[in-house]
Amino acid sequence: MAYRHFEAIEKHAALLGILTAVMVSIGGLAEITPLFMSAHEVKAPSGVKPYDPLRLAGRDIYVREGCYLCHSQMIRALRAETERYGHYSIAEESVYDRPFQWGSKRTGPDLARVGGKYSDQWHVLHLMNPRQVVPESNMPGYPWLEKTQLDGSDIQARMRGLRKLGDPYSDADIAGAPDAVKGKNEMDALVAYLQGLGIRNEPEGAKPGAPATDGGEP
Ligand code: HEC
Repeated sequence: MAYRHFEAIEKHAALLGILTAVMVSIGGLAEITPLFMSAHEVKAPSGVKPYDPLRLAGRDIYVREGCYLCHSQMIRALRAETERYGHYSIAEESVYDRPFQWGSKRTGPDLARVGGKYSDQWHVLHLMNPRQVVPESNMPGYPWLEKTQLDGSDIQARMRGLRKLGDPYSDADIAGAPDAVKGKNEMDALVAYLQGLGIRNEPEGAKPGAPATDGGEP
């Protein structure tokens, strides 16, 4: 009888453990595999461009300094979020983000559409010491960024690597990288990166700052 088979399994801890693991794995694969397949179908819409050399360098600094530990870059499709930050984020905006910076930790505000919200000068003052412009801020300062010049050859290597992964950089783009970052320091790069967020990668219909029109509520 089937009941007796179950009893045999239930009384045998190791067998129960192994069979449970097998079942959970099958269930997990059924959920995860389709997601992996569809990830490749997300293509960059017109308007979404790969990072130019300065912003690419800025993005690496953002990751290096761990800004993602306090800032997300994903506006959820909830009214409270779209009213505050603008149109909710969509997958296509992140096709050139490796690794993506969506995150969920928000000690500070979401930055997905912070581009154009402040002047470059504001960002420099804020990154040197946030309390110069936001007295109650508890964000740390990053004054060392102004002291390190960018290395163009390093950025070329990064662009070549990204091209292997499918980013459409041309030979001319890569050849021009050292000139594009000549005389720039890490602060310039990080500010350029921030100023492009939500603007550089703005797909059709997702206007930064504009509340969502096609259903801001879940
Ligand atoms: C310990 C947490 C923490 C870290 C780490 C951090 N921030 Fe912040 N950030 C905050 C808080 C809190 C605020 C809100 C107060 C303010 O504006 O300073 C903020 C505000 C900001 C704002 C203004 C956003 C807006 O819409 O007003 C920007 C831009 C920003 N951070 C960029 C960065 C960058 C770039 C880094 C990494 C170099 C970084 N932050 C690291 C906590 C953090």
